[in-house]
Amino acid sequence: MTAASGVAGRAAVVSGVGAALPPRIVLNADLTARLDTTDEWIRSRTGIARRHIAGADLSTTDLAVRAAAQALANGEPVTAEAVVVATTTPDRCCPATAPTVATRLGLTGIPAYDLAAGCTGFLYALATAAGFIAAGNARTVLVVGVDRLATLPGPEDRTTVPLFGDGAGAVVLRRGSADEAGALGPVVLGSDGTGADLIRAPRPGALHMDGGEVFRHAVDRMSTASRQAVTAAGWELADVDRLVPHQANSRITAFVACQLGVADDRQLSNIAETGNTGAASIPLLLARSAADGRLKPGHRTLLTSFGAGLTWGATTLTWPDLSHPPS
Ligand code: UT7
Repeated sequence: MTAASGVAGRAAVVSGVGAALPPRIVLNADLTARLDTTDEWIRSRTGIARRHIAGADLSTTDLAVRAAAQALANGEPVTAEAVVVATTTPDRCCPATAPTVATRLGLTGIPAYDLAAGCTGFLYALATAAGFIAAGNARTVLVVGVDRLATLPGPEDRTTVPLFGDGAGAVVLRRGSADEAGALGPVVLGSDGTGADLIRAPRPGALHMDGGEVFRHAVDRMSTASRQAVTAAGWELADVDRLVPHQANSRITAFVACQLGVADDRQLSNIAETGNTGAASIPLLLARSAADGRLKPGHRTLLTSFGAGLTWGATTLTWPDLSHPPS
């Protein structure tokens, strides 16, 4: 399925980006003290060296508010007219996270809702936010991807504990033109419930994952969705300056880049520092790369993700110059 990228004058344009990571860092060496694993195994099989883990004093809502506030502060001066929070690990079943995030940002009264689509949640949220803008229901939408995936594995499970970290990332979308920098291209989304058992967590601390099978699906689905998104945008794969894949495993992203013919120096990654942060993964990587200069204004950027559900997606944008908002 390809979501509309916006009628003329109602494209969704990225106008701010923000990120939040918990201050506490857990190194691979910290895990080897309590799990039957090694730093070498974790690095070589996943690319992960450390991850940020939230303590009990830092909730999913707290992380979302921090990333959202940064996205609103460091981009164009806009006020959000709707808030969408993508998460699989909310602080509570009910009520949703987004209304509290909106109110803590001083935005009481606007539409605010959560959605869950596993690690693809951020791309699903971008698509629904773009739909709000295209339909004329909002001129600006705050989109947050936030997860505390470190709460899901059983504490003794060496096959999943090393993989996950906590964090949040956010972007502000505003109404604009499809031909300006920052405009989202068509968003390709998909799901396959026959794979629901491959990654499942009936409750926190009880994650089950068929790692090998998930690995194969992740490579296949992200590669296919990426091709579809590039074609839908009217691009060629050779046009892609920066590939921003969901950070689940550096071997997965290397396979995807290889299948797409994207050279290593055009692939962005921060998995070594964050592990898999679920719905936060892509916006965290965007914020980090924009800050350190690996992602520059004018870069033609391809986003792709895969996660529990199974779900997957991809979209494109030309990275905007957030330091020079249009007058
Ligand atoms: O965000 C989307 C959701 N998640 C993913 O995309 C994750 C996708 N899958 C993966 O990233 C990889 O499959 C894993 C990192 C989870 C596992 O890597 P793998 O290369 O597929 O390893 P494996 O599951 O085939 O296990 C190989 C061996 C096994 O031992 P035996 O049976 O060969 O004796 C495991 O028990 O490695 C063992 N193993 C470990 N050894 C040391 C598994 N975890 C560990 C560990 N330390 N932490």
